[in-house]
Amino acid sequence: MIKPLLIKATKLTKGDALDIGAFYGFDALFLASKGFKVTAVEKDKLLAEQICSMEEDNLKVINKDIVDFKFDQYNLINCSFVLHFLRGKARNTIDKIKHSTKLNGINLIITFLDVGDFENKHEGLFARNELKGLYAGWEILNYFEEEVKTKELNTGGSFKKQMAAFLLARKARKIRK
Ligand SMILES: C[S@@+](CC[C@H](N)C(=O)[O-])C[C@H]1O[C@@H](n2cnc3c(N)ncnc32)[C@H](O)[C@@H]1O
Repeated sequence: MIKPLLIKATKLTKGDALDIGAFYGFDALFLASKGFKVTAVEKDKLLAEQICSMEEDNLKVINKDIVDFKFDQYNLINCSFVLHFLRGKARNTIDKIKHSTKLNGINLIITFLDVGDFENKHEGLFARNELKGLYAGWEILNYFEEEVKTKELNTGGSFKKQMAAFLLARKARKIRK
């Protein structure tokens, strides 16, 4: 299912899009189908090859760690369920995402909070309201925190649940640095 906030994002801007941690390419292909010129960055070689094999004209796939990626300027950046992998580099990556967004461009960030079943409370997990705070000066179109079912299993065999922050924001004309 395509994320409702991603559908909303495509109605707010057009042009160049960056999809970070593209996985099987669902979000990237959706963006391409909506007319965006999409760059999808995926660290996993097999996944990157799989997306490439879709041969979508408006989709460029880059097999790279986002930490080493040289950002361009984009109208829309989607970074969903990836930042926790980056641990201590998660917040610096948000800085890069913000700086690489064109004026009036849109960011969709979905990231796990340090509240839930994950046993390892590492620095890639965000505090409540932290993500919203990092977007001070931007126009916050949507912000909410809600529990999501992850793909990790508890010892009992049920899926772990973890709180996540969902943010859709626009780089407004007057930006506080
Ligand atoms: C949980 S999946 C999220 C997929 C997709 N963004 C979504 O919202 O459904 C995380 C993806 O990010 C990729 N990934 C993890 N660390 C990364 C990194 N440092 N740079 C680029 N991709 C990364 C993983 O290989 C995986 O495909």
